[in-house]
Amino acid sequence: MKKSVEHLTTPKVLRDAMVYSLEAGGKRLRPILLLETLRSFGGEWQLGMDTACAIEFIHTYSLIHDDLPSMDDDDLRRGKPTNHKVFGEANAILAGDALLTYSFQLIAGSTYPNFSPNKKLSIMNELAQSAGAEGMVGGQVADIEAEGTSIDLEQLQFIHDHKTGKLLQFCVRAGAILGDATEKQLSSLTQFATHLGIAFQIRDDILDIEGDEAKIGKPVGSDTTLQKSTYPKLLTLEGAKQKCEEHLALSLKALREASVSSERLEELARFIIQREY
Ligand code: IPE
Ligand code: IPE
Ligand code: MG
Ligand code: MG
Ligand code: MG
Repeated sequence: MKKSVEHLTTPKVLRDAMVYSLEAGGKRLRPILLLETLRSFGGEWQLGMDTACAIEFIHTYSLIHDDLPSMDDDDLRRGKPTNHKVFGEANAILAGDALLTYSFQLIAGSTYPNFSPNKKLSIMNELAQSAGAEGMVGGQVADIEAEGTSIDLEQLQFIHDHKTGKLLQFCVRAGAILGDATEKQLSSLTQFATHLGIAFQIRDDILDIEGDEAKIGKPVGSDTTLQKSTYPKLLTLEGAKQKCEEHLALSLKALREASVSSERLEELARFIIQREY
């Protein structure tokens, strides 16, 4: 990841800010999910490599912005001071902007021979939808709007499905498109990723309460301070854990219906739900 940024002709502080967050030690779950989906179709990993980097760039940008004083105002991310704490707010905003834009350049400029122009276009279209107003960004706005209010489960599910779910859905759909999935497979895998995405964010909400700050690398209790709408707040901690398991079960059911070689994806889904960090 560092390599694809280091050669950019741009002010040093911007390059440093981009590299800082990319190399801060994220779990890389999204690129792994994309590459494992591609593998489940027997595809070569090289075909997905630029798209896998692109989604990690977008995810990292979303975290930099999520931590800003005007959003969740957090000081710790991936076990290190947040981007704006090190580089200042303006550079953090601009590093996020640069990562977002560059992710599309990475896909458009991919030189892997089997990455056809049609597939590039289709994947860039999916990425824009998942990351933008109808996807992650829309979810982040709904999340902020719901601070200090009481919302119902349907509204909360919308937030989780958008702010977190859409990028995970992209990973699976992009892997499937690259692997030449049928429409039916794409639809089952989208269901797999939808439930996985909601479960992923429920687990994140749970870790914000009972996680270990040293392990999760971000502050515990941030959601309570900001009066965020979360699953534990709406359903209690036990209720949230149960919902998380329900979504995992629905996710694995959809995965089996996709008729792909699913062992590693199943393992990954279980890890995502049972993780401690
Ligand atoms: C954190 O995602 C943000 C959410 C969408 C909940 P991750 O838990 O995947 O964060 P990193 O990439 O490992 O830091
Ligand atoms: C953020 O959800 C999801 C993003 C789009 C970044 P959170 O605000 O709960 O993520 P963390 O807990 O700060 O990682
Ligand atoms: Mg947030
Ligand atoms: Mg946050
Ligand atoms: Mg959180």
